[in-house]
Amino acid sequence: MFHQMAFPTPVSVHESESSVNPLSPKMPVAVIGAGAIGRMHIERLLRHADVSLAAVADPTDAARALAAELGVPCFADPREMLDQVRLGGVIVATPNSTHADIGIACIERGLPVLMEKPVADTVADAQRLCDRAAAAGVPLMVGHQRRHNPILRRARALIADGLLGRPVSANVMATWLKPDSYYQLAWRRQAGGGPVLINLIHDIDVLRFLLGEIESVQAVTSNAVRGFEVEDSAAVLLRFASGALGTLVVSDAAVAPWNWDLAAGEAAHYVQQAVDSHFIAGTEASLTLPRLNVWRYRGARGWHEPLTQERSAVHAGDPYIEQLRHFRAVAEGRETPLCSGLDGLRTLQATLAVHEAARSQRPVNLAA
Ligand SMILES: NC(=O)c1ccc[n+]([C@@H]2O[C@H](COP(=O)([O-])OP(=O)(O)OC[C@H]3O[C@@H](n4cnc5c(N)ncnc54)[C@H](O)[C@@H]3O)[C@@H](O)[C@H]2O)c1
Repeated sequence: MFHQMAFPTPVSVHESESSVNPLSPKMPVAVIGAGAIGRMHIERLLRHADVSLAAVADPTDAARALAAELGVPCFADPREMLDQVRLGGVIVATPNSTHADIGIACIERGLPVLMEKPVADTVADAQRLCDRAAAAGVPLMVGHQRRHNPILRRARALIADGLLGRPVSANVMATWLKPDSYYQLAWRRQAGGGPVLINLIHDIDVLRFLLGEIESVQAVTSNAVRGFEVEDSAAVLLRFASGALGTLVVSDAAVAPWNWDLAAGEAAHYVQQAVDSHFIAGTEASLTLPRLNVWRYRGARGWHEPLTQERSAVHAGDPYIEQLRHFRAVAEGRETPLCSGLDGLRTLQATLAVHEAARSQRPVNLAA
């Protein structure tokens, strides 16, 4: 059964800044996994107009202390929480290998899920989760939050409206320096803990969001700088079903500003840089992101003619807040997921193909 109900009195501590419907109680949401990203969700839930924090599930003392401070119940066992607390939806922010089983536990109870990325750690598990959600008719969203950024929504609309003509190419930079302390956790030094599955997956999702399905992937990876088992850098070639081509370079061992997190200013803990990281070119115009600069000819066309550059005001908006608004709308059947479980699966498939292509030194074709 899918919970579409009148919600109980919200438990959130802070009052919301505004509300789409002040008469409607907030949708109570639980967070499973109160680690780095779980706490970011909790912070937004506490000041959101449409949703509230109802409970936390995480076995650590730190999570228990946080929940006590916020005045919400904390459970070591997520299933116990799902059985005891009345919820409208659940955010799953636990380690990747737990996503499918925890997600299915929510779905079995009819609870809509916002699953952190990657949707699961294998394509098979992602498929299992998507199948269960589809069979139960329970909404499953994946936390590729960039899709909720107004910059990307505008870019997608511009491309869909034909501003670029036929998209030809996309070049993506994802280069920055993670401090050495980041790699003190052992799992980050091992397969799956590197910048491809942690970071580049977002860029791959952005390209799928803007340009459609990816047909094939080629890649080389390197661990030459840090020397860990996991890569510190990768270069990737994509072919889209449309025939457009893409290149992506990721490195978390480089001193550079060219990446979405620093350029887009999505999160306050990154110092924003006035640069672009994504460059998309078409037969009529090209577009840079996140600054949304458009380059095109106003008169005669051709490389000897002057190009004009149109600048937009830099768009600002917290994609996590918008994602939560959307989560409630999806849970109540008013909107369809902007990033469905299946989207998460396809993005995961293309991202895992980076490793497979690098290992085999051959292109990996993705199933249609
Ligand atoms: N959307 C993003 O930009 C973004 C950013 C960071 C992390 N993530 C994703 O979020 C997930 C968590 O990453 P993180 O960096 O917050 O990790 P983390 O290690 O900081 O936090 C994970 C938390 O989950 C808890 N946990 C582990 N197993 C649990 C279980 N069975 N039940 C309940 N709690 C459990 C741990 O105690 C820990 O507090 C990962 O899937 C990661 O890929 C997404």
